[in-house]
Amino acid sequence: METTQSVRDAFDLSGRVALVTGAGGGIGRTTAEVLAAAGATVVCADVNAGAAAETARGIHESGGSAESAELNVAEIGAAATLTEDVVGRHGGLHVMCNIAGIMIDSSIIDLDPAEFDRILSVNLKGVLYGCQAAGKVMVEQGAGSIINMASAAVLTPSPGIGPYAICKAGVAQLTQSMAVEVGRRGVRVNTIAPGFIPTNMTARYYTDPDGTINEATKAAVVDPMAKHAPLRRVGTTNDIGYCVLYLASDASSFVTGQLLSPNGGVAMHY
Ligand SMILES: NC(=O)c1ccc[n+]([C@@H]2O[C@H](COP(=O)([O-])OP(=O)(O)OC[C@H]3O[C@@H](n4cnc5c(N)ncnc54)[C@H](O)[C@@H]3O)[C@@H](O)[C@H]2O)c1
Repeated sequence: METTQSVRDAFDLSGRVALVTGAGGGIGRTTAEVLAAAGATVVCADVNAGAAAETARGIHESGGSAESAELNVAEIGAAATLTEDVVGRHGGLHVMCNIAGIMIDSSIIDLDPAEFDRILSVNLKGVLYGCQAAGKVMVEQGAGSIINMASAAVLTPSPGIGPYAICKAGVAQLTQSMAVEVGRRGVRVNTIAPGFIPTNMTARYYTDPDGTINEATKAAVVDPMAKHAPLRRVGTTNDIGYCVLYLASDASSFVTGQLLSPNGGVAMHY
């Protein structure tokens, strides 16, 4: 029974403070819920303040500890300000999840420079600012875990999402570069590269012009992907939340600079 107890301890986040960006929906919301269920106090941050507040409210209602904050990850200095505020009120920051992200659909040849700047600002610079803000605090503390959200698009390029994949490849590299710099100070940095997870981000593939989800179109998009995957399904936000929990917790204390790929087996790397 001692082993059972220590396994629970390894995944227990009681007494830890976690900041989750993009916590207003999709993968970020579920991740916030999972970390709170594991005992963390979770700061749910999102550019959509109302959605972030809704996530925090749901966590409260389930008996967890959470608060919400408005944060545009693309704004220089915003993550640093929020982080200082969190540390000032809670005494530390132990887990940083850089999950906020956007998608643009464009071929590389037709990519509009302004659109590229827009996606770079959120998906790559936003992650950098989050890493810097949390990294400074964690290096000072001598401990912490940073988890950055990339995508299977890094491993399996698809036509039309090249600008997104470029940002996510940058996130994977940023993770490795930072991991080698901060490891000796007790800080771990890892990337998760999810496969297809139905969320608001992917809904554009199967949303009718009036804004409703078209279930037939959704099946036409999702079913072939599931059929092609070795595990015969697409992912859920819980699949990713549990990966974040592993990387956030002491269970992964020997893991840094890695790219974890919950994708049903559609892309494999070694
Ligand atoms: N859904 C997938 O199939 C999939 C696959 C691989 C990777 N991802 C990545 O996972 C992350 C979450 O994606 P999702 O599918 O949950 O998307 P989503 O659209 O459901 O949620 C994204 C959240 O980020 C927030 N956000 C957007 N711009 C922001 C900004 N500038 N500052 C702060 N918050 C901002 C949105 O308000 C939203 O709440 C993204 O980084 C995405 O690239 C998603």
